Order: sequence, then C-alpha cells, then structure tokens
Amino acid sequence: MLNMTELKPARILAIETSCDETACAILENGRALLSSTVASQMDIHARYGGVFPEVASRQHVLSIIPVVEQTLDQSNLSLKDIDAIAVTRGPGLAGSLVVGMNMAKGLALGTNLPIIGVNHLEGHIYSSWIYNAGETAPAEPQFPLMALLVSGGHTELNLMTDHLTYERLGSTLDDAAGEAFDKVARLLGLSYPGGPSIQRAAETGDPTRFKFPRARLDNPYDFSFSGLKTAVLYEVNALKKKQMALPVEDLAASFQAAVVEVLFNKTIQAAREHNAKEILVAGGVSANRALRQAFQSQDEFKVHIPAFSLCTDNAAMIAAAGYYRYALGQVSDLGMDVQPTWPLS
Ligand code: KG4
Ligand code: ZN
Repeated sequence: MLNMTELKPARILAIETSCDETACAILENGRALLSSTVASQMDIHARYGGVFPEVASRQHVLSIIPVVEQTLDQSNLSLKDIDAIAVTRGPGLAGSLVVGMNMAKGLALGTNLPIIGVNHLEGHIYSSWIYNAGETAPAEPQFPLMALLVSGGHTELNLMTDHLTYERLGSTLDDAAGEAFDKVARLLGLSYPGGPSIQRAAETGDPTRFKFPRARLDNPYDFSFSGLKTAVLYEVNALKKKQMALPVEDLAASFQAAVVEVLFNKTIQAAREHNAKEILVAGGVSANRALRQAFQSQDEFKVHIPAFSLCTDNAAMIAAAGYYRYALGQVSDLGMDVQPTWPLS
C-alpha cells in the first residue's frame, strides 16, 4: 500500500484538451486546487449536434495560451513556483490532444520541468481527491474502492485496491452512458450536450410512464445501452405514427430512470461482492442529479462524487492524477506522443 505521508509536496500545472474543453489548472500536493480555467466550446459544437473534431482542434489552438495565462494570473504564481507539468495524453480526439501536448512540452522544455502524461480516465477518478485550497480537506477516498466511471466515451467499473491500481470488472459493450444521453436527447429533439438537456426535461416528467428495458448480460458488471436507446426510438416512432405530440418530459424521465437504476445497482452489487469500503463515481454523467441522488440515498457505502464543476472535463483532475504519478517518480519523456485510445487498465 502506498504510504501517502511519504509523498513529496509538489505544485502541478496541468493541461487538458482531450475533447472540446480547453483547460488548465494548478494543484498543490494532489488535492488543494489553487486555480482552474475551463474554456468550453459547447456553444460552437451545439450547432452540429456533437463535437466537430477539426473545429475542436482549431479552437484549442486559439484558446490554449490565454487559458494557461489566465490560470497562472489567478493563482498569483509564476512558472518558477511550479514543480511539474501534467498533460492529458489520451484517450480522446487526436487533433485535440496534440494541442495540449505541444503546449505542455513547450512549457516543460522552456522551464526544464518534468512532464507527466496522464490518462484522462484516471484524471476523472482523481477528481474526488480535490478540494479548494483554503478550505478544510475532506477525507480522502479509502481503498478498496469501487469506482464507477461514466463519461461521454467510457462506462466501466474498476476495483481500486490502492492508488493508481485498477482492476476492470466490466465495461460497456456498446454505447457509453454519456453517449446514450446524447443520442437519446437528439431523438427527442433536445439540444447538445444531451445529459443536461435530458436531466432538465426529466424534472417535470413521469419516470414510470414508459417501461424501458434494462439489459441482462453474462458478466453482471458489463453495461449495454444500445437496446435502451433503440427502445426509446421505437416508442418515439410509434407515437409519431399515431400523430401524437411527443411526451418529451416523460420519455426523458423514463430513460434517465433506466440508466440510473442500472448504474446504481451494478455498482452497489460490485462493491458488496468485492468488499469495497467505499464507492467513487466519476466522469461527466456523475453530474446527473438523479444518479447523485440514488447514491446519496443509501448509507451502506460512503460515496465520493466530485463537485459539479469537476465532473465534466477539467485540468484539475489531470493535475491530481499527475501528482500521484509524479510522486512515485513516474515521469514521462518529451518524446511521448498522444494516445487517442488508451485504456485505464
Ligand atoms: O467526462 P465528460 O465531460 O467528457 C468525456 O470524457 O467524455 O463527459 C461528457 C458526457 C456527455 O455525454 C454529457 O452528455 C454527459 O457527460 N453529461 C451528463 C450530464 N452532464 C454531462 N449526463 C447526464 N446528466 C448530466 N447532468
Ligand atoms: Zn472526460
């Protein structure tokens, strides 16, 4: 087991550009957040109904320097006060990743600081370690920990027996949870990104009106959301055929209830079976209020879910994961390349 008291103190500046957010943050000792900037491209991509990779890459080029400068300004620090540079190496869009990677390499080269390539999924997991500098540090997640990762590109359950140690118990066989939210939102005529739109519509909807399927799979810890998405499509087509107005709120609420039930039940079952002490939920979908409520309404396990601002993509989480890698001496070299597909384990 990693002895945390022996880890050296360090201030990490991190850069994240894996998808459509240009982000930079400075974090102390893996937990205390000094400064964080996230420049979202959401409005630009909304008109395409999803992330347009070339546009994302160009936008990162425009935003990256101002975002790093703003992060340093806000912290009242200069590069001389930084101990290492962390950067998202993957998974993500190649054209987006390279912009952050080149900026990070430039900074590392210019300052002679070590550079750490960080897995974006590991970053999401480490968002639960972060708190705002100046506030009282909350208790750290305790191992063995059952980690549910639910983002736009990934859905998986990992058992963590120590820092940076993952045993994948299951993952999605088709769509990721966030992807299902985005696709169903489009079916219902709701705007991108789908997660927040579905959540909003579901607030006034009846989650019991439509009985959407919950997939049964050989491995109980795998996920599948494509059948659910198809069931919503059939329902929408049937209603349209009858020339009925779409009950968008009820459809959204019933879909959301199905996703939340599956994510919650599988995580609790996995935590029990593997004698986990605590549960951690991470990734963009962990911002979902119904999912948070489901976990908060039980008291069998202590559950860690990041603050809303840390659920979706940000650089603070990359600094947190980068810190633990750095503290263990796992630095990268300047010859590293981006890894658009890079599994967590
Ligand atoms: O982690 P993230 O920001 O980017 C990836 O690494 O993929 O996750 C983005 C995903 C999108 O699919 C988005 O629809 C979903 O997270 N999301 C939500 C909510 N906020 C964001 N899904 C459900 N409810 C939300 N409130
Ligand atoms: Zn993400």
